[in-house]
Amino acid sequence: MAKITFLECTRCGEHLSAEQPQTVCPRDGGVLFARYDLAAIKKNFKRESLAGRVPTMWRYREVLPDAEPVSLGEGFTPLLRSREYPNVYIKDEGLNPTGSFKARGLSAAVTMARAYDLKKLAIPSAGNAASALAAYSASAGIEAHIFMPKDVPRANLVECRSYGAHVTLVDGLISDCARLVAESKQAEGWFDVTTLKEPFRVEGKKTMGYEAVEQLGWKVPDGIIYPTGGGVGLIGMWKAFDEMEALGWMGKERPRMVSVQASGCAPIVKAWDEHKSAAEAWVNAATVAAGLRVPRAYGDYLMLDILRKSKGTAVAATDQEIMEALQHWARTEGIFAAPEGAAALVAYRKLLTSGFFKASDTVVLYNTGSGLKYVDAIAQYMNKDAAQPAARQIGGIIGPY
Ligand SMILES: Cc1ncc(COP(=O)(O)O)c(C=O)c1O
Ligand SMILES: [Zn+2]
Repeated sequence: MAKITFLECTRCGEHLSAEQPQTVCPRDGGVLFARYDLAAIKKNFKRESLAGRVPTMWRYREVLPDAEPVSLGEGFTPLLRSREYPNVYIKDEGLNPTGSFKARGLSAAVTMARAYDLKKLAIPSAGNAASALAAYSASAGIEAHIFMPKDVPRANLVECRSYGAHVTLVDGLISDCARLVAESKQAEGWFDVTTLKEPFRVEGKKTMGYEAVEQLGWKVPDGIIYPTGGGVGLIGMWKAFDEMEALGWMGKERPRMVSVQASGCAPIVKAWDEHKSAAEAWVNAATVAAGLRVPRAYGDYLMLDILRKSKGTAVAATDQEIMEALQHWARTEGIFAAPEGAAALVAYRKLLTSGFFKASDTVVLYNTGSGLKYVDAIAQYMNKDAAQPAARQIGGIIGPY
């Protein structure tokens, strides 16, 4: 692992070695970032170097941990131009292995877990990270121990069990799952891959930033709208822009970063509106967008700093708005999005109306997952909505679904 120069604390700047597994900064619990010698890498790693490379996130291997990848083909997802808004692009992360962008982070984290010879990994998850950990662990021959809320989307549960993971369903939220992992990990010998509590999920997620700029023909978009729970994608993409600048691939310009959350769980939006640099835990978190049901984000201070530095903002979307947008995207764009992804469309519409974005701005909306993971919730919404066209069945009408 020669390529990682050191791991750096995002709070105090402490340097740690990447020769052995690390979690968070031992001094202050800060999130650790992998640092590379970008000045040296720059000499041989050019934008042109990417031509003809594998269409996965590992095409950026010079700026990813130097270990044999555990890969299922994650990343380099389509950047689709919207039919409705000509300057909007939809980054369709639903096409990743296990149907969500979580594949990127877990591919990188499991790659490093295998390189460190770790045998048992544990994760608290709202669902999609669990599915991804289960798949990559199966591929690497590593045990996965998964803690999810008991009302997790059914697809996540079925997937995790199919991949042979050890699943515990918890009567509570992801924060309760995290507590259970923290309490048991030492006795059980698990390495904890909780969001931002190890340095490599960010490394995988940052590739969404590299890809957006590469796929726009090396144009930096004016805005990025990202459905935010723990915020790893937002944090990772911001890191990617700094790295691309150091590589000479882009200048000082940055997209305005927008965090979208669900109205039923919007701690970052609240903290942003109150001009705070850290977020309070959200009480009674509830939303159909399961991945956004994160009452307390470990990287809150990083996200709020990014929103501020990028002249971005934070927006909330109600479940009703999200489900309407989901159906709208399916019908106008042919994209069956996860509710989390559809929230990005709600945010874009609001920001267009408020004048935050102009119609001429190039904005990338991240559809972070596939609607196929949420068919139960989507069917429930369709059953309630009388305006939904019924499906015809020879000999009768189908429904409720
Ligand atoms: C589909 C989907 N979108 C967005 C998120 C939020 O991701 P992050 O924790 O990186 O903010 C999740 C998290 O579970 C998710 O599953
Ligand atoms: Zn520190």
